[in-house]
Formats: sequence, C-alpha cells, structure tokens
Amino acid sequence: MTPPMSTFPDQFRLNGRTALITGSARGLGWEMAKGLAEAGARVLLHGRDPARLKERVAELAAAGLAADALSFDVADRAAMAAEIDRAPAIDILIHNVGERDRRSFSDIDHDAFARLIDVDLVAAHALVKLLIPGMLERKWGRLIMVTSIVADLAIPNASSYATAKAGLSAMARAMAAEFGATGITSNALAPGFFATETNQRMIASPNGEHHRQRTPAKRWANPSEITGAAIFLASPAASYVNGHTLIVDGGVSATYLA
Ligand SMILES: NC(=O)c1ccc[n+]([C@@H]2O[C@H](COP(=O)([O-])OP(=O)(O)OC[C@H]3O[C@@H](n4cnc5c(N)ncnc54)[C@H](OP(=O)(O)O)[C@@H]3O)[C@@H](O)[C@H]2O)c1
Repeated sequence: MTPPMSTFPDQFRLNGRTALITGSARGLGWEMAKGLAEAGARVLLHGRDPARLKERVAELAAAGLAADALSFDVADRAAMAAEIDRAPAIDILIHNVGERDRRSFSDIDHDAFARLIDVDLVAAHALVKLLIPGMLERKWGRLIMVTSIVADLAIPNASSYATAKAGLSAMARAMAAEFGATGITSNALAPGFFATETNQRMIASPNGEHHRQRTPAKRWANPSEITGAAIFLASPAASYVNGHTLIVDGGVSATYLA
C-alpha cells in the first residue's frame, strides 16, 4: 500500500525521528547533523573524541536542538555494538565515516589496503547489521551511505579509498534490493570536492586548483552544500527513492571538460 504523502514543507520534516550521523564532530558529517537537527530529528553525533563531541552536542543544545553523542572507533566492533546497544532506537543512519590514503598504488602495502577497506566499507556492514532489526520492527528506516565521486571516476593515489567507496555504493544498492518492501530505503550520497578542514592543504595546492578548474561550478563546495541532499534522502519526501546515488559535485561527473 502507498504510504500517505504529506505536502510541502511537512514532507521534509524529520520530527519524531532519531538519526545517527557517523563522523559528525567535523566536516560534512557535522553539517549534515546540524541540518537534520534543524529539520526536527533528534541527532546522535559520532566520532572518536568524546570531549570534542561534548562541545558539539552543547552547540546544538544551545541552539535549542536535540542531540546526544556516541563515541567509538568503527574498527572496534565491540565498542560499536556497546554504544549502539545503549543508544535510543535509530531510524536514520547517515554513514559518513571515511578515511583516505593518498599514497600511490605501489606504496600501499597489503595490510594498509585491508585496514582501509575495513574502516571505510566492512564497518558499514557491521553498523547496518546492528540497526536493521529495529528498523524492520518499526517498518521504517533510512540508510544513507556517504560515498564519493571517485567510486566511479578514478583518480591517481586513491586506490584503497576508491575501492572501498565503490563497494559502499554497491552495498547501498544491495540493501535497496533486500529491504525495499520493508519500509527501509537505502541510498548513497556521493560528494565531489568539498572545502572541509581535511581538504584545506589540498585546496591550496596545484592539484586543488586543478579540481576547481575541472568543476563546472568553478569552485570548491562549501561543506554546508551537502546538507539539503542529506535531509532529502532522510525525509518522507524520498519515500520512493531507493538504491539511488545522489551526486553532489557541481557537475564534475556529468562532464568531460569544463
Ligand atoms: N570532503 C570532500 O571533498 C569529500 C569528497 C568525497 C567524499 N567525501 C566523504 O565524505 C565523508 C566526510 O568527509 P570529510 O571531508 O568531512 O571528512 P573528515 O573531515 O576527514 O571527517 C571524517 C570523519 O570520520 C571520522 N572517522 C574517521 N575514521 C574513523 C574511525 N576509524 N572511527 C570513527 N570515526 C572515524 C572522523 O572522526 P574523528 O572526529 O574522530 O576524527 C571524522 O569525523 C567521508 O566519508 C569522505 O570520504 C568527502
């Protein structure tokens, strides 16, 4: 049966929902967490530094927004399970944790390659597995995997990262196929070049200038420009959007020259 459709702007409201945004003490995760909180969700911030998370939770609380935090390294599955166990029921997952290894293919040894795949891809499987039973029980869920345009467009010195993101993108589609009839949707959100803290050195480099020129928008994205896409995928407005990759890249992946 078709779920009842609310109208604008209610179809973008997240009131009554709890959202976990992983890797959200800074960067794109923080922007998406703020946006989801402003849209009405109770947000669970996540990162590895409890002190930093406490400051961020206080920042949201000072703005009258509902927030709490979970702290674990995604490589530590026991800590992940313990934190999810003590958390309230989670309706929306934006899985945004992502580490990069900018070394050349030949310089990345087997162990480093496997570790990055574990953190950027296998951990997502572990986390979703912990959340799925509750989402199935409540017949509602949103799984949003933050991938990258490099999942489909290769660049040098990103072999393990691109492999992990391509896997995550495929996993989002696989979950869409398996959970499509259950009220759970699964999508990927693929950023292009965003001016986060992590990218500041690169932006100032010749490579960073090349990325700017290669982007039809002719600028790096402001981190807040990811927020609308995240709210959309998490919201009732996206109830029939499933297995999709929403690219937010100023036109890079649609073009050969710019
Ligand atoms: N920025 C871009 O241009 C761009 C482009 C394409 C894709 N992306 C993707 O978008 C996401 C966010 O990017 P960003 O630039 O905002 O990244 P970022 O600033 O480097 O933030 C990464 C976040 O992931 C967390 N994290 C990393 N490793 C972790 C681990 N082992 N366990 C737990 N948390 C971990 C970090 O938490 P701590 O606070 O604990 O360090 C941090 O909050 C990433 O998945 C990235 O691959 C970004």
